[in-house]
Amino acid sequence: MWLQPRPPSPRFPQQEGPYLFSVFTDPDLRGRGVGTRVVRALVRTARDRGYARIELHATESGRGVYERLGFVATTQMRLTLHPKAGRRRPPHARSARRRSRGLS
Ligand SMILES: CC(C)(COP(=O)(O)OP(=O)(O)OC[C@H]1O[C@@H](n2cnc3c(N)ncnc32)[C@H](O)[C@@H]1OP(=O)(O)O)[C@@H](O)C(=O)NCCC(=O)NCCS
Repeated sequence: MWLQPRPPSPRFPQQEGPYLFSVFTDPDLRGRGVGTRVVRALVRTARDRGYARIELHATESGRGVYERLGFVATTQMRLTLHPKAGRRRPPHARSARRRSRGLS
């Protein structure tokens, strides 16, 4: 569970909020309630710490686990600014590498 910065609003003034990611159960142990128990424990922790809500991006295999615990789909949208986003090194990292190789 990562505490991500978020814009405050009148209803949700907190400027950070819990975000769940990389939830993973060993394939040999799936379908036994392990994932549900882990996520339920994280929900309880976030609630006990006073956070108003939790966010995540669900995969197909995770959707059922989250929905059963009360998570609902939201209206989030995304615009991809570069088709290779995530695979490219940021421009400043590329130029630092070129400099270290003496390429200007
Ligand atoms: C998503 C993931 C973490 C779920 O882990 P899991 O330990 O299998 O989760 P659970 O066992 O609690 O629930 C999975 C299914 O088993 C069922 N189940 C839960 N307890 C059960 C039990 N005691 N006996 C039998 N089945 C059970 C649930 O109904 C659920 O079915 P559903 O998803 O169709 O609703 C796992 O599939 C995974 O690691 N996927 C790959 C990574 C991934 O996509 N992670 C999610 C990122 S958002």
